[in-house]
Amino acid sequence: MNLQSKQILLGLTGGIAIYKSASLLRRLVHDEGVDARVVMTKSAQQFMTPLIFETFSKKPVLTDMFSGGIVSTRHIDLANDSDLILICPATADIVAKTANGIADDLLSTIVLAAGNKTIFALAMNVNMYENPITLENIQKLKELGYGFIEPEEGDLACNNKGKGRLAEERIIIEYLDTWLNGKHLLKGKKVIVTAGPTREYIDPVRFISNRSTGKMGFALAEEAVKEDGNVLLITGPTMLKPPPGVEVIRVESAREMGKVLSENAGEADFLFMSAAVEDFCPANFSENKIKKSEPLKEIPLTLSPDLVSSFRANNPKVCIVGFSVEIEDGKNRSIQKLVSKNMDYIVWNDPSKEGTGFESDTNDVLMFSANGDEWYFKKNSKRKIAEMIIQTVVRNISSLPCGMLAP
Ligand SMILES: Cc1cc2nc3c(=O)[nH]c(=O)nc-3n(C[C@H](O)[C@H](O)[C@H](O)COP(=O)(O)O)c2cc1C
Repeated sequence: MNLQSKQILLGLTGGIAIYKSASLLRRLVHDEGVDARVVMTKSAQQFMTPLIFETFSKKPVLTDMFSGGIVSTRHIDLANDSDLILICPATADIVAKTANGIADDLLSTIVLAAGNKTIFALAMNVNMYENPITLENIQKLKELGYGFIEPEEGDLACNNKGKGRLAEERIIIEYLDTWLNGKHLLKGKKVIVTAGPTREYIDPVRFISNRSTGKMGFALAEEAVKEDGNVLLITGPTMLKPPPGVEVIRVESAREMGKVLSENAGEADFLFMSAAVEDFCPANFSENKIKKSEPLKEIPLTLSPDLVSSFRANNPKVCIVGFSVEIEDGKNRSIQKLVSKNMDYIVWNDPSKEGTGFESDTNDVLMFSANGDEWYFKKNSKRKIAEMIIQTVVRNISSLPCGMLAP
């Protein structure tokens, strides 16, 4: 567990399980070294007073949007300064508010400003939990990348039995550790991630490219760092800011990407080939800008180098995860690619599906392995999809030819 000095904002809402949050807070601050800040809703204060939480967090508890010393845009500062926001217990109400963008008190405003670095530890009556409205709200937020610690089954305070009890303290703390630090699945491993489009120049100012933004590759690099990998990101042109802890090499053309790949292949354990390497490149490059006044002529194209096949030929033991973008007969074409290029896994993106592929912040993919396994990662943030791809790849690697790398 490594939560030392992490800035966690603990949001308390009006559920009966709030008494358990006092013990959780004490453990987080006293035993784990967390720097905690507590915010309570009005309803939460009907169940417990702020005093106990002030004592354990050693800081004033915040309860109101417009009072308590210098107010200014405190809600934005609190959202920005926190590594994560844990709502525990999380009522059906705070989930519904967040899912609908409601910001009518201090806690819901902070959560809206913080985006998907919020985790909800759910606790409520089973009928409230199983109400399709609540389930739909939860699903909507999961798809946006929010975290959920699902409630457990058992006896509930309302004398009902069913799913609704707050998860055990140990489970909540493990969840926070995984969220903030990853699972160390790639400890000691060298991971190369390629991302973004390539540009194949016709003349010094014009090029052939594609719609890739690099979001999926950057998410993979970010998640690989969380899993303790030693990550090199080779990226084509993109506006994205690289995640912390990643070594970045920027390239433009497929040829350049291939060169950087082969120079850095040594000792690599994994290659996540998510770059949209442009398939075609102009057969000739004009050193000077082609003038508009020149007679129009055809631009002959050739195929770009096949980076995966050459990488495989020189690096037989590296676990290669390829990415395909296919619409018609996408599954078969992706599997053919997996086999013909001797990859270990391939992730198939179908850009005709809503909320997937280029430019989108979400994705919805199928992944196939060389030994015939198949996984469906349904629509979720690209960060979450990246996390699921990495976890599945590493956990199933022992059954593949490159299996000697298994951690
Ligand atoms: C005794 C009692 C226990 C409650 N327990 C829960 C609970 O466990 N989960 C929940 O979602 N709501 C529970 N509620 C209802 C919430 O307190 C209520 O929906 C409130 O508006 C939530 O406000 P908040 O989300 O701003 O804290 C409880 C209400 C009472 C009176």
